[in-house]
Amino acid sequence: MFQINENYLQLGESYLFSTIARKVEQFSASHPGVDIIRLGIGDVTLPISPVVISALHRSVDEMGVKEHFRGYGPEQGYAFLREAIAEIDFQKRGIGISPAEIFVSDGSKSDTGNIGDILGEGNVVAITDPVYPVYLDTTLMRIGKTDKIRLLCCSEENGFLPELPQERVDIVYLCYPNNPTGTVMTREQLTWWVDWALENESLILFDAAYEAFIRDESIPRSIYEIEGARGCAIEFRSFSKSAGFTGLRCSYTVVPHELRVATANGVEVSLHHLWNRRQSTKFNGTPYVIQRAAEAVYSPQGQQEMQAMIDSYMQNAALIRQGLSESGFTFFGGEHSPYIWLKCPDGLDSWQFFDRLLEVCHVVGTPGAGFGSSGEGYFRLTAFNNAERTAEAIGRIAQLSSTR
Ligand code: MLT
Repeated sequence: MFQINENYLQLGESYLFSTIARKVEQFSASHPGVDIIRLGIGDVTLPISPVVISALHRSVDEMGVKEHFRGYGPEQGYAFLREAIAEIDFQKRGIGISPAEIFVSDGSKSDTGNIGDILGEGNVVAITDPVYPVYLDTTLMRIGKTDKIRLLCCSEENGFLPELPQERVDIVYLCYPNNPTGTVMTREQLTWWVDWALENESLILFDAAYEAFIRDESIPRSIYEIEGARGCAIEFRSFSKSAGFTGLRCSYTVVPHELRVATANGVEVSLHHLWNRRQSTKFNGTPYVIQRAAEAVYSPQGQQEMQAMIDSYMQNAALIRQGLSESGFTFFGGEHSPYIWLKCPDGLDSWQFFDRLLEVCHVVGTPGAGFGSSGEGYFRLTAFNNAERTAEAIGRIAQLSSTR
């Protein structure tokens, strides 16, 4: 009889955001007409910016003209986009990343999950707790529940920043600005991690999907701002939250040429080569029209429109912070991140608070426990709804707390 990958049986029953979507759907079906406000999954609500829409129209039209017909594109992404990324996201900020080190893809969810394909199963993998569920779920899918997974507790006590591992760790996933806690890592803290990785010949998988929300220039937006990081880190970036591409799907991963590792028999191998080999075998590239849309984000108008969107979401974050503060909640994040991480009131656990918020306030958030056991007792709100709905949601939550 054939066999399945039994590691899948060790996963939770369903993916966190699928579970939430199902619960909300059930509530909605049994409470028709109820006005539900969604501050749960980090999905954007502002319309896609005009310059991106124009680029989409233009490139769709191009595809209808025979001379411009685009078939399979380069698996790594078109040069026009890789060059724009290298120039605007890195070189203009003084970071030496070349277009050849950039791999365009359809989302950081895919890339942070797929990166394990090029990594050995014997690695000890450290994952922060709480965490964006994809890192842990995909590691479990690959190696199963073994003693090779180390959870790095991120709590109020340590400012939601993991401590450097005291025992051998080969690979660590870091995400800053952090999903879900909304906290950031300073240059000094990120330098400790890079130095640790270089010293231990470990690899950092750095998810910078939320870098565009950083409001303070002293906080690193890329791990490659830190000396030596090209030799120990892969960085993941996304257009989803920064440019409203959750539905369009575009992201990229940086694999520097310096990233090399010796095999068991001493042969030196480039991770760039391996990822290129993986992508060209398993991926046929992000659609041409989507890459043209992403390219438009790098035009002067695109940069302005993107900044306006981010500013608008960050105003919502400020609204949430202010409302929670007035209602006496303890909370974190929301200053350099679209996520606000609050402590559940009245001793409720995070799923109980989820139910109360949904049933009484008709507001959806994300229970901290869904991000890992250290998230128990906490709750995540996103700033991605519009200002009016965000204000309404916060008003409802304030009423809930005034009647406690
Ligand atoms: C989140 O809400 O954590 C994100 O939107 C999920 C994702 O980016 O896949």
